[in-house]
Amino acid sequence: MNKKNITIAIDGPAAAGKSTVAKLVAEKLDITYIDTGAMYRAFTWYCLEKGINCENEADCDAVIKDVAIELRPGHIVLCNGIDVSKQIREPRVSSKVSYIASYKNIRLSLVEQQRAMANKTSVVMDGRDIGTYVLPDADVKIYQIASVQTRAVRRYDENMQKGIPCTYEEIENDVRTRDYIDSHRSFAPLKPAPDSVLLDTSFLSIEESVDMVLKIIEKKTGVKPNV
Ligand code: DC
Repeated sequence: MNKKNITIAIDGPAAAGKSTVAKLVAEKLDITYIDTGAMYRAFTWYCLEKGINCENEADCDAVIKDVAIELRPGHIVLCNGIDVSKQIREPRVSSKVSYIASYKNIRLSLVEQQRAMANKTSVVMDGRDIGTYVLPDADVKIYQIASVQTRAVRRYDENMQKGIPCTYEEIENDVRTRDYIDSHRSFAPLKPAPDSVLLDTSFLSIEESVDMVLKIIEKKTGVKPNV
């Protein structure tokens, strides 16, 4: 691939497979993957650990300054130096993270860090507001969707593989609730950027989805994997 910094935004609803696709695309292009959802999750984990009510905006705002979140290679997420990569995927975090992500001051703080990361190097960044708010000038914007049932089955299987206890019903409810909260919040809600390419992965394998994203990137930027 060429050396100009490129920015690729992948947005879409919960459990649409964005992180799986984004990770593989980043690997194939040998650029940095940034999982912005992991940042909202890490802060949610911190609030839960401290016994802070995640549904109280003022209480959460009060502690954002105490929290340093770091994304390390290998998909390691550190919160104040503690490795929380596994804990942030637990249902107790998933069920509260959309509240946290609807708070403007929390978003402003995390978005600042996300923009700083994208300024330094080429990135594939996934989230909800990357193409619309975080990186409005991204070179490529993908809006990745899949049906609620497909997403719930995928997230359930993923949790089972990781040994995270949950039921299918719990996951489907969580996906529906998060879709609603993420797309109805007032600040930077989940929605497709007007210049995004819609990718419905309901009937696509991971490999097919990755191939499609790579083709879109090549068409828009000329950048392609080395092999
Ligand atoms: O992608 P995920 O499921 O790990 O995201 C967790 C939550 O964080 C999700 O409910 C919405 C929120 N989020 C957000 O509001 N903006 C982002 N850029 C990324 C995630």
